[in-house]
Amino acid sequence: MEPINLLDYEVLAQQRLQPAIWDYFQGGSEDEVTMRANRAAFARLYLRPRVLVDVNTIDMHTTVLGMPVSMPVLVAPTASHKLAHPDGECATARGAGEAGTIMIVSTSATCSAAEVAEAATAPLWFQLYSHHTLETTGKLVKHVEAVGYRAIVLTVDSPYLGRRERDLHNQFILGQHVSMANFSNKNASASPSARHLVDTWETVDWLRSMTTLPILLKGILTAEDARLAAKRGIDGIVVSNHGGRQLDGAIASLDALPEIVEAVAGRCEVYVDGGIRRGTDVLKALALGARAVLLGRSILWGLAVNGQEGVRHVLELLRAELELAMALSGRPTLASIDRSLLKVAR
Ligand SMILES: Cc1cc2nc3c(=O)[nH]c(=O)nc-3n(C[C@H](O)[C@H](O)[C@H](O)COP(=O)(O)O)c2cc1C
Repeated sequence: MEPINLLDYEVLAQQRLQPAIWDYFQGGSEDEVTMRANRAAFARLYLRPRVLVDVNTIDMHTTVLGMPVSMPVLVAPTASHKLAHPDGECATARGAGEAGTIMIVSTSATCSAAEVAEAATAPLWFQLYSHHTLETTGKLVKHVEAVGYRAIVLTVDSPYLGRRERDLHNQFILGQHVSMANFSNKNASASPSARHLVDTWETVDWLRSMTTLPILLKGILTAEDARLAAKRGIDGIVVSNHGGRQLDGAIASLDALPEIVEAVAGRCEVYVDGGIRRGTDVLKALALGARAVLLGRSILWGLAVNGQEGVRHVLELLRAELELAMALSGRPTLASIDRSLLKVAR
């Protein structure tokens, strides 16, 4: 099958990957209620298209934290890319660069932060899990700053690892040939349960004091926390439930987005991830006030199926769908996308 959309890549990736690796990529926590809710939230929102608008030219270029991107779609941080393809995160970074967008590289990457920076052709952001002590975490932050990362994305929804029951059933562990490249003990698990540090707002203040890079918090789902983040001068928020892999039963990220956009009232940029598979999904997230969206699993599907080229193709397929959706809804620019585009289905 020639993949013509992201869901085709999902089918092909499942055929390609060993079942335990597939489950690790695909699964959520416990009953996977939140994982399913992420998709269902998009299906409940319908579009109110305007017609007879001049849609000869569609422009989706934008900036994120001042950095230009070719479209409002970024690559979410996901762990262990070498389980999908031997070139790992280096291939993903090159694919994202070809598509003109930013990759957020995970702390739990299987290529080192320096290797990915070397391979990259577009700006990179670094997703941070603090580990062991503030001292080791600080060293990692200084290192990624030195090798050219342009923002720090602190993930705040994972003080402990969610119960990923597919992995427990499979007794899943990283294979011999794959390790966490950013950890001094290369065999150390990057899972939050294996770490000793539980972050609090004090960690955020500490991070703010020790780096001049922009800081984003990933994993905020409430207006209350969004207000605290904005008050602390955080540059961006990623509204996320970790793709349904942490607290099962947590609200769908799309459903959390409106209250967070309202709470921060333009004080920082707001992004969203979770369940984005279609150009119309991107359009709906933008209409609710997201500056851009992040893709998690679908990037891993592209990587598993065809390495760097698969990542590029996944991003290009989504770009083409978003372009068509903007044209058919009479919204030729990002500025013309607003809440009047949406109707909640009864
Ligand atoms: C296999 C896998 C590994 C992930 N690893 C990380 C990680 O290391 N750090 C992080 O902040 N989020 C991680 N996430 C969450 C993603 O950044 C993102 O929030 C989620 O995948 C978005 O949902 P989607 O997969 O439906 O697009 C991971 C998700 C998956 C599926």
